[in-house]
Amino acid sequence: MTETTPRPQTLALNAGLSPDPATRAIAPNISMSVNNALAPGDGAFSADGAADLTALPYLYARWTNPTVRQLEERVAALEGAGGAVCTATGLAAIAATFFTLLKAGDHLIVSDVCYAGANELARRILPDYGIEVTAVNLSRPADLAAALRPNTRLVHAETPCNPLLRLTDLAEVSRLAHAAGALVSVDSTFATPVATRPLDHGADLVIHSLTKFMNGHGDALGGAVAGAKPLVERIRSRAGVYLGATLAAHSAWLIMRGLDTLWPRMQTATANAARVAAYLADHPAVTAVTWPGLPGHPQADLVARQMALPGGMLTFQTRDPRATAARLAERLKTIHYAFSLGHQRSLVVLLDTEEMMASTWRLTGAQAEDYRAWAGDGIFRLSIGLEAPEDLIADLAQALGQ
Ligand SMILES: Cc1ncc(COP(=O)(O)O)c(C=O)c1O
Repeated sequence: MTETTPRPQTLALNAGLSPDPATRAIAPNISMSVNNALAPGDGAFSADGAADLTALPYLYARWTNPTVRQLEERVAALEGAGGAVCTATGLAAIAATFFTLLKAGDHLIVSDVCYAGANELARRILPDYGIEVTAVNLSRPADLAAALRPNTRLVHAETPCNPLLRLTDLAEVSRLAHAAGALVSVDSTFATPVATRPLDHGADLVIHSLTKFMNGHGDALGGAVAGAKPLVERIRSRAGVYLGATLAAHSAWLIMRGLDTLWPRMQTATANAARVAAYLADHPAVTAVTWPGLPGHPQADLVARQMALPGGMLTFQTRDPRATAARLAERLKTIHYAFSLGHQRSLVVLLDTEEMMASTWRLTGAQAEDYRAWAGDGIFRLSIGLEAPEDLIADLAQALGQ
């Protein structure tokens, strides 16, 4: 019998998992212990001196924890990475990456539109530490080429980006960044490894908010950074040891249980999104629908090249978004009007363009025009869950009217 490498669906269930040696339990145990008993001679090291904290015995849970390690192995296997480090939240994973790879005098290029917290951290907080930051529309590689500087150390992309669902060509961005001596980190929260594995396209690090599709049940916060092991271990020793952004074991266990069903969840969400996108595209009150799976997506070629499936996130616009938002918040019964995304239950929220421009994006000129071309006065970000598509459509129909 020939041995085959397990396919990603199988890895999502089994990578990093082996029966508990004492009980033969198949489901992972939760190791809640903060500290572990040391053998004679253990403990004669400091975090500073250790190149790889995962090579040390478990000693203190802020550094490494057996349950979190299992999740890290699974995330690394799914992303085709040498290693992964998990963090308390997705934003902690992004902060850990920035604060490990950047120092005063370095230059960061961040996508002009990406998760608001990451964008604000980069553009408002990092300059206080002497880090130069430029926001670039990374869907235009020529803009990246023009923005790269001799001191650019990192290019941070997000694809598809929150909230526009605009893609970044990872192979092209990685080629340009590497030629300039910069690393590339990619927030792949919307895509998940089911749709895109950024490292396969040349990126150096892939970042997740595990809070979203990876866990998929809206009951745990978490984050991860995966990539080559030496790079990941540098981030671990900062993130866990000095920034203290460690993932709790209980959350790691919940996220692992969520990952068990990542593939079928992403497939169902995608199939549901196709039905809902088609319904909305025909609705008289809806002026635009964006979903990577629609043939009219402005980057349909890149979607085909870079995404194995279009995923469960879509956006739509209406003529009077604030009035529509009020109707949806009041009338929806199956879909929840709420922030967050990637859960088993469908969620929708309005991201008003004027408000987002003032609070977060602060875009001008061509970047502002480009944002408006995708978002108009505001977009409804709809995260499609696992409900029957007929029920989602019926709920939208009664809430939108007509
Ligand atoms: C694309 C993306 N990245 C990162 C985050 C931050 O994740 P967390 O809330 O787990 O910190 C979010 C949250 O919405 C997100 O949408």
